[in-house]
Amino acid sequence: MPMADKRFLPRQMDFESMVRVLVEEHRVMEAGLARVEAAATRGDFHAVAAALEQVDPVFRQHIADEESQILRLLIGELGVKGAEAEIKVFQQHRPIYRLMQLVAELASKSASELADEQCRLNELFHKHTGLEERGVFPKALGTFQEQRKRRA
Ligand SMILES: [Fe+2]
Ligand SMILES: [Fe+2]
Repeated sequence: MPMADKRFLPRQMDFESMVRVLVEEHRVMEAGLARVEAAATRGDFHAVAAALEQVDPVFRQHIADEESQILRLLIGELGVKGAEAEIKVFQQHRPIYRLMQLVAELASKSASELADEQCRLNELFHKHTGLEERGVFPKALGTFQEQRKRRA
């Protein structure tokens, strides 16, 4: 079940530019989560919440594009079976988002739990972006180029 937000519509740009933008956004969000980590470490709960608030709209626009544009292409070209692994990777979006919300809540409650969950969030996020950059995106680009060749 995709969690793409209705308020975040797919961006209009060509497919290859979109993938480049998505990779750049991984770095932007990782930098944001590093700020969350630094703030959590020094016990600055206000800064934890502020950094997460900056990541939030980037993440939601990002997954709106992944779940519409990338996934739609893969399923359209390869079928649900052929895109099974990629669907699984995108199913991490919801748990990642829940964890972001949990970390934001913990920021005002429990320093030790905050540190644990924030660690878990960063780990999960890095794993996720790695799977996309090494697996999902190259496959999507290859599939896109195949489609373009066929249609040419
Ligand atoms: Fe993703
Ligand atoms: Fe991503």
